[in-house]
Amino acid sequence: MSRHLLGIRHLEPEQIEHLLAMAKEFKKRVNTGKPVPSLQGHVLGMLFFENSTRTRVSFEQAAAYLNLRTANFAAQASSMAKGETLKDTVLTLRFERLDGLVMRHKESGAPTLAARYFGGPVVNAGDGQHEHPTQALADALTILERKGALEGLVVAIVGDVDHSRVARSNAWLLSKMGAEVRFVGPRTLLPSHTGMLPGQVFHDLASGIADADVVMCLRLQKERMDGGIIGSIGEYAKLYQINRDTVRLAKKDCLVMHPGPLNRGIELDDVAADSELSAISAQVENGIFVRMAALAWVFEGVTPARRVEQPAPKAKEKAKK
Ligand code: NCD
Repeated sequence: MSRHLLGIRHLEPEQIEHLLAMAKEFKKRVNTGKPVPSLQGHVLGMLFFENSTRTRVSFEQAAAYLNLRTANFAAQASSMAKGETLKDTVLTLRFERLDGLVMRHKESGAPTLAARYFGGPVVNAGDGQHEHPTQALADALTILERKGALEGLVVAIVGDVDHSRVARSNAWLLSKMGAEVRFVGPRTLLPSHTGMLPGQVFHDLASGIADADVVMCLRLQKERMDGGIIGSIGEYAKLYQINRDTVRLAKKDCLVMHPGPLNRGIELDDVAADSELSAISAQVENGIFVRMAALAWVFEGVTPARRVEQPAPKAKEKAKK
């Protein structure tokens, strides 16, 4: 059975620690020119059915460092645009001898479905509003580097939690690692069943980020909103923007984070986004190393498809000779 990385929710804390330790080691090795494991001979299918800049490029970079060849798949130009189901597309890629898949999809659960039919490792690069495990790992590595530990920290996740797979994966990861998670935002942008997620809910920014070690801002994901969810962008920014003034409500040395892409002037102003407190570029950079760890982890013990031995001829056929 293949190993997949489909989400954080079902990982054990030890597995999270292991992935983070691998990422840290890979970062050290890449930065000092030391060798990293080679996955040469494997081909990784890159299936991005939704837009992506940082996630896609960092998976490409991670694969390149690991000597892993990537096969790109443009969703718009594929047979799915001709009506092929996801199952048939995945089966096609399997028999075309791809060894692993990285997949982003607008439907929650699509990578889980792909994993059922593909027969090799699948890594979720973000599915609907469900999970984005490698982003949560990149964020955790960044917090670890800047704060030394995750346990005991207060992390306030501010904004459009309801539509955010990043918020969900982060909430699972941080709570499993002993941090206190807070969701801060207007009622309409927080999940209606917040009891299902590990964290406390705040509708008021000042109390939500008071004493926070980390303030994680989220993009207003308009493409996932039905409309009418927020009164106006201006009103949202007035109440929830992290800026020169509001950042002072958190701890003095708080980390300001954002998974990107960021809408300057809405979730964050330039002062908060570009200040010394901001860890946004470190999050992007660490994305490469956690994705190396994710790929190395799911490929552990996997033989490249092209090297799989053909089944031995049946005894009857042998006897004929
Ligand atoms: C996020 C995503 O796609 O889930 N971006 C990312 O991968 N860093 C967040 C977003 O789109 O707002």
